[in-house]
Amino acid sequence: MVVFKVSRVETTPFDGQKPGTSGLRKKVKVFIQPNYLHNFVQSSFNALTSEKVRGATLVVSGDGRYFSRDAIQIITKMAAANGVRRIWIGQNGLLSTPAVSAVIRERVGADGSRATGAFILTASHNPGGPHEDFGIKYNMENGGPAPEGITNKIYENTTTIKEYFIAEDLPDVDITTIGVTNFTGPEGPFDVEVFDSASDYVKLMKSIFDFESIRKLLSSPKFTFCYDALHGVAGAYAKRIFVEELGAQESSLLNCTPKEDFGGGHPDPNLTYAKELVARMGLSKSEPQDEPPEFGAAADGDADRNMILGKRFFVTPSDSVAIIAANAVEAIPYFSSGLKGVARSMPTSAALDVVAKHLNLKFFEVPTGWKFFGNLMDAGLCSVCGEESFGTGSDHIREKDGIWAVLAWLSILAYKNKDKLGGDKLVTVEDIVVQHWATYGRHFYTRYDYENVDAGAAKELMAYLVKLQSSLSEVNQIIKGVRSDVSNVAHADEFEYKDPVDGSISSHQGIRYLFEDGSRLIFRLSGTGSEGATIRLYIEQYERDSSKTGKPSHEALAPLVEVALKLSKMQEFTGRSSPTVIT
Ligand code: G6P
Ligand code: ZN
Repeated sequence: MVVFKVSRVETTPFDGQKPGTSGLRKKVKVFIQPNYLHNFVQSSFNALTSEKVRGATLVVSGDGRYFSRDAIQIITKMAAANGVRRIWIGQNGLLSTPAVSAVIRERVGADGSRATGAFILTASHNPGGPHEDFGIKYNMENGGPAPEGITNKIYENTTTIKEYFIAEDLPDVDITTIGVTNFTGPEGPFDVEVFDSASDYVKLMKSIFDFESIRKLLSSPKFTFCYDALHGVAGAYAKRIFVEELGAQESSLLNCTPKEDFGGGHPDPNLTYAKELVARMGLSKSEPQDEPPEFGAAADGDADRNMILGKRFFVTPSDSVAIIAANAVEAIPYFSSGLKGVARSMPTSAALDVVAKHLNLKFFEVPTGWKFFGNLMDAGLCSVCGEESFGTGSDHIREKDGIWAVLAWLSILAYKNKDKLGGDKLVTVEDIVVQHWATYGRHFYTRYDYENVDAGAAKELMAYLVKLQSSLSEVNQIIKGVRSDVSNVAHADEFEYKDPVDGSISSHQGIRYLFEDGSRLIFRLSGTGSEGATIRLYIEQYERDSSKTGKPSHEALAPLVEVALKLSKMQEFTGRSSPTVIT
């Protein structure tokens, strides 16, 4: 057995190691600087209570992006030196973010051990490769991201760090082969276990959904299916779940081999970046398709996001969570005894609010960031939640879950079609959405992103809007000068959230303009960009009249878009005449 020594290495702080909404994300060239990752990892260990480090079991894995393999070796050596008892690694270093959450919550080691935390190596939907992004975040024993108290502590530690500990002579572990390697250090045994990336997660999914009914749907010749992992880690689960468990054809999987650079693409499941899937589903004007599949879905790099498509049809994420909530009790066994409550992030459309009201469910509006849902779930207040940013999930784990969302939709389709599989026409994704609008009304919705804007200019724009928002009469005067057919702003504010569980307050969470007719305009700065600033503009209009819910979205939203751009002086502040991405 290899016996390792612990080295104490002197170091000095790096600027800017402040974790954002979902961990620390930087270009690879920043992360590969000597001691950069080491400082952050040691600062994380130092921010945890001693029993979460000494003798603990920690998970280390991620979406497999470039630099992950090196990072896993570094973190393992530092864990050994800091007295961690054992490290769990998904085979090839791969674990989706939702799978990490599931592993923390569900996996029990051969000797009964359970993990109390994880380093997740991902920059989510940001591109990967030597010139792109890497990221690291710490998740806690509930399977969710570290709360702000911890991330602030990590950051403080990074500003004063003087030393870190590492087992330099620990040999690199072979992460390609399943098995346990045992070592001994000054404090006793240290084990590294490489395990199958998918089994714990697959087991959890099988306990939530009725796989048999989904299998029947997928075996119907009238139901065609397509899944695009965008070369991300979802590929490590897609074959196991969709093909092996549910009987989908292997040809229905696109880009399902995880790649370090996501094939040079941007692994974000939206209409702009999931080009191949969008074309296959008949949604690209330049590549018309004769017979697109009935159902299509995509995931981001770390597989926590999802995009749901029907044949020539896009489901907005805000509608998606509302529809899942409206159908969960009937269609998904896990929810058969009812929903504890539902929640959405502030910029997500109010489609979910209407469902909650209708079904008399507890409802919460939280700031952007999945961790806010986690608190509600830990307190038993929320079962289903979602965000406009292509995140949907439930209290089965404490992260959003891309494959769960797909299985939720397949369950709804299976339920709606349970007596129709032998007939000549199936209920389609589009039918389900249109029916939902007829019952609840439609929230037309779009988001404009201005990426990599000069940080100073973005700040000025936000400051201008904060100031403007204090005088509603001025706001309404500007609006009337732009479009007389847009209703008045009834209320404007900077969103502030008081967590109903721990009472903590999160302020400056975005500027809201709430209109008399239920429309909303929201401006906020992204917390996940890695360079410059990203301004997000969210535009939403409610239509209750079912004779008007079929309008094309861009038509319905055109007046509000015009108002938003003029009101914010977007072009003046940013120099941009159009957004980088529209979703
Ligand atoms: C991550 C978080 C989400 C958040 C999204 C967008 O995926 O987990 O909760 O909605 O980023 O955040 P941003 O700050 O870039 O709008
Ligand atoms: Zn992600």
